[in-house]
Amino acid sequence: MKKIGILTSGGDCPGLNAAIRGVAKTAMLEYGMEVIGISSGYKGLITKEYIAIDENSLSGILTLGGTILGTSREKPFKKDKSFFKENDKPKTIFNHYKELGLDCLVCIGGNGTLKTAHLLSETGMNIIGLPKTIDNDVWGTDRSFGFDSAVSICTDAIDRLHTTGNSHKRIMVIEVMGHHAGWIALHAGIAGGGDIILIPEIEYDIKKIAKNIKDRYAKGKTYSIVVVAEGVSHPENKTAGRHIASLIEEHTGIETRETILGYIQRGGTPTPMDRVLATSFGGYAAELIAMEKYGQMVTMRDNQITSVPLSEIAGRLKLITNDNHLVKRARSLGVCFGDN
Ligand code: F6P
Repeated sequence: MKKIGILTSGGDCPGLNAAIRGVAKTAMLEYGMEVIGISSGYKGLITKEYIAIDENSLSGILTLGGTILGTSREKPFKKDKSFFKENDKPKTIFNHYKELGLDCLVCIGGNGTLKTAHLLSETGMNIIGLPKTIDNDVWGTDRSFGFDSAVSICTDAIDRLHTTGNSHKRIMVIEVMGHHAGWIALHAGIAGGGDIILIPEIEYDIKKIAKNIKDRYAKGKTYSIVVVAEGVSHPENKTAGRHIASLIEEHTGIETRETILGYIQRGGTPTPMDRVLATSFGGYAAELIAMEKYGQMVTMRDNQITSVPLSEIAGRLKLITNDNHLVKRARSLGVCFGDN
C-alpha cells in the first residue's frame, strides 16, 4: 500500500480544498493509498507538523475557500543567513519524507512552489505538482485553478464600478492582482467591459491613454473604466492603481477614482469551473502516483488533463504574448491597451 503526503504552499486561492479532496479521495478510494496532510506548505515538513486525513476530514471542504492544510511562503532552497550551516532545510525535508515512509509528495502551488518541487525531486524524492494560482502564470498549463474564481470576483467589482462611474461621470480605475502577468486584468477587463486595460506585458503611454479617454468624452461617453494589473510599471511609493489614476486625472482634468481590490480576489468559495478543474487535477495526480509516473506537474492542455515534467516548467513564467487572441479581440472592440 502506498503512502502519500499532500501540501499546499504559496499564496492561497479558491479551489485548494477541492484539489486536496480530489487527490486524497481518489488515492484512498480508487487505489487504497494512505494519505497524510503536511501543515503550512514546506514549513510543515521541516517542523514535522502533520495533519491526519481520512474520508471524514474531507467532507464539506469542496466548496470551502482557503486550504485546510494551511500554507506558507517557505522556500527551503533559499539561503537563510539566520540559520546555522547544519540547518540544511532540503536535507531535513528529505529525512522527514523518508521518516514518514512516503512514496510520493504532492505539492500544490504556484511558480515558487513548483520550482521547489522540482528541486526536491532532484534530491531523489517522488514528487507530483499541481498548478494553483489566481495569476494563471504557471508555464505548461492552459489554466491553473483559482484563476476563474478571481476573474469572477473582479468582473463583479467592475460591473459595480460601471454604475457609480456613470452616475458621477468619473474615470474609475480598478487595480487587480496578477504579479508579473496580466491574465486577470485581461479576462476580467473583457468580461466587465473595461475601456482601457493595462497589463505588464504591454508598455503604456499615458498620452495615448489620455487621448483615448478624451476621444470617448467627445463621443458622449462621459465615464470610463480602466482595469490595471498590479504589475504595470509604477513608482515604489504608490500602487499601480493609484499611480495610473493620478496620471489620468493630471492628463485629462477629469475626476478619477481608484479601487484596489486586493486579497478579496483570493478569498471565498471557488467557482464551479475551479471546483471541476481542481478536482480533475487532484484525481489525475493520484492516477500518476498509481502509475509511479513521478517528477510531473498535472496540466490542462487543449481541454485535456495530462502532465509535463517538472523540469520543463520550473522557473518559467507564462505571460501574455503579442499574438494573444483575446488582446486582438479586445483591440477590435476599441479597447485601449495604453499603446494605441
Ligand atoms: O499568488 C498570487 C498573488 O495574489 C499575486 O497576484 C500577488 O502579487 C501576491 O500573490 C501577493 O500575495 P502575498 O501578499 O501573500 O505574498
